[in-house]
Amino acid sequence: MAESVSRSEVRGGGLSGAGSAHLRRRGRDYVIALYAALRAIRLYPAEHTAVQKTLGELTQLGEEILESERELDLRISGEFLFLNSTRLRLDLTNYASIGYWLRLCKASGVGSIRVYSGAMMRDWLVFLSMLDETSEDSPYERLGALSDHLVRTNIRNIEVVAPIEEDDSEFSEEAKKAAMRTYNQSVAVTKEVINSVRMGRTPSIRKIKRVVQGIVDQILNEETSLIGLTAIRDYDEYTFTHSVNVCIFAVALGRRLGLTKIQLFDLGLSALMHDVGKSRVPLGFLHKTEELSEEEWQRIAAHPWLGVLALFQLRGQQEDVSYRAMTVAYEHHMRVDLSGYPKPLRPRSMSMASRIVAVVDGYDAATTRRVYQTTPYPPSSVLQEMRDNPKRGLDQIVVKAFINLLGIYPVGTLVVLDSFELAIVYAANPRHNMLSRPIVKIVSDAQGNMLHPAPEADLAQTHASGDYPRTIIKTADPERYGINVGDYFV
Ligand SMILES: [Fe+2]
Ligand SMILES: [Fe+2]
Repeated sequence: MAESVSRSEVRGGGLSGAGSAHLRRRGRDYVIALYAALRAIRLYPAEHTAVQKTLGELTQLGEEILESERELDLRISGEFLFLNSTRLRLDLTNYASIGYWLRLCKASGVGSIRVYSGAMMRDWLVFLSMLDETSEDSPYERLGALSDHLVRTNIRNIEVVAPIEEDDSEFSEEAKKAAMRTYNQSVAVTKEVINSVRMGRTPSIRKIKRVVQGIVDQILNEETSLIGLTAIRDYDEYTFTHSVNVCIFAVALGRRLGLTKIQLFDLGLSALMHDVGKSRVPLGFLHKTEELSEEEWQRIAAHPWLGVLALFQLRGQQEDVSYRAMTVAYEHHMRVDLSGYPKPLRPRSMSMASRIVAVVDGYDAATTRRVYQTTPYPPSSVLQEMRDNPKRGLDQIVVKAFINLLGIYPVGTLVVLDSFELAIVYAANPRHNMLSRPIVKIVSDAQGNMLHPAPEADLAQTHASGDYPRTIIKTADPERYGINVGDYFV
């Protein structure tokens, strides 16, 4: 008892500004040390110096944290990792290690590990070796086996604990709110920028940069909520939400393709501004519902190079606008085989950023209802077409990574389940081998009654027997059922 009093006292002190920054640094080092030890154990025999050295560092660091904090509890909550009560920030130095640790713990049903003073190198060797083993068992079974193993091998200073459910929802609520703020702010600023270019005024580049920074930070911390919001696809605000969606998708995809944070920022800025040239095209042409005349089409098809001109002017007026943004504005409709527009005079190869923007731009445009496109295509068939129709001129590696990001059934898809329920795909399953089993919201029951609020279900979850209670049979058209997909994401 006395121990827990002193723990909370120290914890209270640890939360104050400088203290929590210090703990965050410690936490980062600790997860990096865990990751290094796991890798060494996987690659070398136990007596190898690399294994000994990394385990030595890990135990040493653990004792130091225990010395100053009195407790060491490494806990997962949703996509976040906490050391005691301080959330560890994801950045480039720890991205791989935190991501690996989260996946490993989730697969093993571990919510947190508690470490007590006196944990030895041998304890860590036994524990990490078992944690890293591949297994067909469910996370629940694995956690049980792991606890048993710790007892059997007489390890008392490392403890594994199951995840706390309530905490998860609390933090994911918080994450959703943060994502919503970032999204709304981004749409508002984009609207301001595009409208001021239209009126010949100078928009604030600094504001745009701040928006892109917000999106990059949010994606690096927790991408699911922000990607979910792209499903809103506001009909009236198409131009602005489209730019923001393209930016979100591009950054998330760039991250999957291994770009650095600075590269992600550059890519995000280029993506946000890819259609800025459209603000130099009369609105009447953009919103026309009837077929366009040749001349009107030519004006719209000029938006790539009009975009370059607009960006050049911004560059002259204010801070630096990267040349990459100009390249992307110019190339995003060009197609990799150069069969699109504008037609380049000399053979050229589209830049990586343009390839990424071309893929996500095509996807967002095809899945949105617009003036001249009354029925949007279902997201899954758009992805299929992007993959199977070479005439679209998309980079196939980028398309594959995009399908991996969104899942086979992207967020916002209406699906029919074998339980005869209707559901909307809410998030891709974080487990990469579960692409066809996303997280969904059940919008109607087997009898066709609409459910409010729509309960969430993880399609990867099984009965104790190992059978899946729900499996997707096919996708369906939300309009046919009078469902507005966006309603389920706000
Ligand atoms: Fe465009
Ligand atoms: Fe576009």
